[in-house]
Amino acid sequence: MLIKDFVDKIRHDRKKCVLDIGSGKGGDLLKWKKGNIDYLVCADIAETSVEQCEQRYVEMKERHKRQREKGICFDAEFITADCTRARLKDVYKDPNIQFNIVSCQFAFHYCFESLAQARTMLRNVSECLKPGGFFIGTVPDAYDIMRRLEKASDCSFGNDVYNVTFPSKEQPKLFGAKYDFHLEGVVDCPEFLVYFPLLLKLAEEVDLKLYFHKRFEDYYDDKRESQEGQFLLTKMQALESYPPLYDDKKLMGNDSDYSNAQQKIKDLRDKDEDEPIHVGTLSQSEWEVFSMYCVFAFVKKEK
Ligand SMILES: C[S@@+](CC[C@H](N)C(=O)[O-])C[C@H]1O[C@@H](n2cnc3c(N)ncnc32)[C@H](O)[C@@H]1O
Repeated sequence: MLIKDFVDKIRHDRKKCVLDIGSGKGGDLLKWKKGNIDYLVCADIAETSVEQCEQRYVEMKERHKRQREKGICFDAEFITADCTRARLKDVYKDPNIQFNIVSCQFAFHYCFESLAQARTMLRNVSECLKPGGFFIGTVPDAYDIMRRLEKASDCSFGNDVYNVTFPSKEQPKLFGAKYDFHLEGVVDCPEFLVYFPLLLKLAEEVDLKLYFHKRFEDYYDDKRESQEGQFLLTKMQALESYPPLYDDKKLMGNDSDYSNAQQKIKDLRDKDEDEPIHVGTLSQSEWEVFSMYCVFAFVKKEK
């Protein structure tokens, strides 16, 4: 929804260029295609991920041609770089490129390892962004993480899906506030807290002004009832059916993890006791990870 909303905002721009920082294996390629952009630059520190991303792009482009899909499929370039240390402008095919959107999903927090890295990352974000262009991102919510840490009996908290471990329960540093993050089957690496007021200050230095900042669950609440939100939730199979639609399908969590869904079904159930009701939901464990993130958007100031 974040990508869709901001691509909508630039739909009247003549040439729509996007920079995806920390693009990984290209999880957002299809979203950029649906957004009818003209040009995409993908940058990531991990060479194999960049190669896989490029491969997915080539396959997507071939499919587009083969199936004679409507419109054009954007052109793209792929860069392997540590975006917290290298200057991306020196690497682009066209150093005068002007981006309409810079996106950094689930990756921006790595630059909070040090002040120098955060500044380099933000210069990369802003330097080639058009005035009026947008910087959109998703990061773990440092306030939420600290609240969870305070409640924990030791330096670690989590559930069967994720785990966060801090070296101590001391007040975290502004930069280099490191913790180990484990997300079952997806991520297992050190991450850094992003203290948002500090991000605002550093963003100001490179002419980026806050447009909005929301916790994931509030953003979800805003979007889920919209027609587009409903469509995407279904299409991306973001939710799990409770109870399962088929007898042989297992739930992600234990039955006790679904008390909200059970309550919702109770509320929905009318007199016809025989009619089965299914609701789209997440298990409690998954919801706890989901609600650890926040989304933001900045706008580049007009000159
Ligand atoms: C959790 S993945 C997110 C991938 C993608 N944005 C997505 O949403 O599917 C984080 C990505 O950030 C990349 N990354 C971490 N540190 C980075 C750095 N210093 N410069 C560029 N990319 C980095 C990782 O290699 C990884 O691909």
